[in-house]
Amino acid sequence: MRLNEIFALIPTTDVFADIGCDHGLLCQMVLLSGKAKRILAADISEFCLNKAKTLLGDNAEYFLGDGLDALGGIIPDVTVISGMGGNTVLHILAGRVLPKVIISPQNDVFKVRKTLTESGYKITEDKTIVDNGKFYDIIALEPGKMTLNELQLTFGAFFDRNDPIFAARLKHNKERLLSYKQTPLNKQKLILINKAMELLNKGETDNE
Ligand SMILES: C[S@@+](CC[C@H](N)C(=O)[O-])C[C@H]1O[C@@H](n2cnc3c(N)ncnc32)[C@H](O)[C@@H]1O
Repeated sequence: MRLNEIFALIPTTDVFADIGCDHGLLCQMVLLSGKAKRILAADISEFCLNKAKTLLGDNAEYFLGDGLDALGGIIPDVTVISGMGGNTVLHILAGRVLPKVIISPQNDVFKVRKTLTESGYKITEDKTIVDNGKFYDIIALEPGKMTLNELQLTFGAFFDRNDPIFAARLKHNKERLLSYKQTPLNKQKLILINKAMELLNKGETDNE
């Protein structure tokens, strides 16, 4: 499950924040695990924040508002921003470099990787997961420097490590692209997928 994969990347910490916590399920996982001393649950929607309040009661602190601004200056040690579009993730971070951020943008992932690695972050984990037949990116970041090439920006900072789920995603994307009209953009996307596949196959051969 997607939230389990995100949870697995959360280290033991003092102050944990889930921005866009909605139901509060991830905060609940952190609470039950004892991974954090303080749990900050934030959401722009009062309706959503109330769901988290019902689930977590007095075990978390609640912040209603837009992105990190809602926290009123508190800087969490670990911040999760998941289940939103890439532009919303960037809007929430608003150029701030936090100690550790785990994001799961649902689109525009190229732009998210590019913007964040150009504004003071390095990527420490970047994985493809599959949940209910759908692929997701989960990316962990820390302050630092990192330059990614086009393939890494497109597919993930560590796309060329041997990961069967990522290989399945590439195959799935290629098959889908081949079923579309071959516009110049789709042809370009196909070239990138083929390049990534070549590198994956080369890695497999090298490891034999
Ligand atoms: C689809 S839910 C994802 C919930 C959970 N994070 C997850 O990954 O399952 C998106 C949540 O983000 C909240 N949200 C959207 N934009 C936000 C913003 N700018 N600041 C804080 N929360 C936001 C929405 O109200 C909603 O509760």
